[in-house]
Amino acid sequence: NTKNYILAIESSCDDTSAAVLCNTKVLSNVVATQEIHKQYGGVVPELASRAHQQNIVPVVHQALAKANIDKKELSAIAFTRGPGLMGSLLVGTSFAKSLALGLDIPLIEVNHMEAHILAHFIDDEERTPPTFPFIGMTISGGHTQIVKVSDYFSMEVLGETLDDAVGEAFDKSAKLMGLPYPGGPLIDKYAKLGNENAFQFPKPKVDGLNFSFSGLKTSILYFLQRETQKNPDFVSENMNDICASVQYTILEILMEKLQLAVEQTGIKQIAIGGGVAANSGIRGRLAEAETQMGWETYVPKFEYCTDNAGMIGIVGYLKFKRSEFTDQSIAAKARYAI
Ligand code: KG4
Ligand code: ZN
Repeated sequence: NTKNYILAIESSCDDTSAAVLCNTKVLSNVVATQEIHKQYGGVVPELASRAHQQNIVPVVHQALAKANIDKKELSAIAFTRGPGLMGSLLVGTSFAKSLALGLDIPLIEVNHMEAHILAHFIDDEERTPPTFPFIGMTISGGHTQIVKVSDYFSMEVLGETLDDAVGEAFDKSAKLMGLPYPGGPLIDKYAKLGNENAFQFPKPKVDGLNFSFSGLKTSILYFLQRETQKNPDFVSENMNDICASVQYTILEILMEKLQLAVEQTGIKQIAIGGGVAANSGIRGRLAEAETQMGWETYVPKFEYCTDNAGMIGIVGYLKFKRSEFTDQSIAAKARYAI
């Protein structure tokens, strides 16, 4: 069994990441999270590109050092071609091209959304990967997508968000309650202490497997405005119950769509990923679905859920084995469908 060493680069949004894989095993996975965006309550594209420019070389050096691999041992360079912020993608793409050219090794382009799903195939002693076919659901601050996965590179998008991503729904709701960015983890934390039936929020009416979260944000805004007019301390006095009710509504939306996907496809294997997969509520609901509906559910290790180069590397390795290499004339793609 030959050992192929893949260096992977991810720079699609606000995390600069580099990983080294030996076949399906991740030897190192370094992520530099850009703290600069916190003060703006969201990612500022221009600042993200500049931070990638500063971080990329140190992050790659660290990934090689942690893996204890010399760059001359590398078999190929994999990088995120898209989708993502153009300025951010350009940094990783240009760097990957130059390095592959300099080392005279193959270059491999990777679709970030495919990578979120194929992250399940990273070697992990504590987990078994899903078997084909399965339903993949990627939920994060940037994505909300349900995909039918028939094989590694045979995927069909069944539905996606028409406006905000799930993570944005968490973060924007949290912001309305005066919580700092990103508010998703805080809603999760307070929700555990609250009553999920305390307040009711309407669920959007979206056909099929598509999602919409912008209406929820608006209804939460009006609800909070109405209540704080009556009682200025409404939010602080009811924080746990509001968080529990908001989270409940979001989870109901996700679970209803998953249930519909299962009905439509007859597939009961569900594999989720993305930063929102950290949510304790969704994990609980999936565990419930295993016992109550006979689903098999999969969640990768958290470091492979959020944006990371490890997931880019596993796709790089799978493409390397198929000799699917990329020409140096490749360009980054901000919109890049699965
Ligand atoms: O994948 P990710 O790290 O990055 C991007 O989307 O770029 O996802 C971050 C998102 C944020 O919206 C954050 O609020 C959300 O994932 N998130 C959570 C939890 N942990 C992270 N949302 C709800 N509950 C959590 N425990
Ligand atoms: Zn992502």
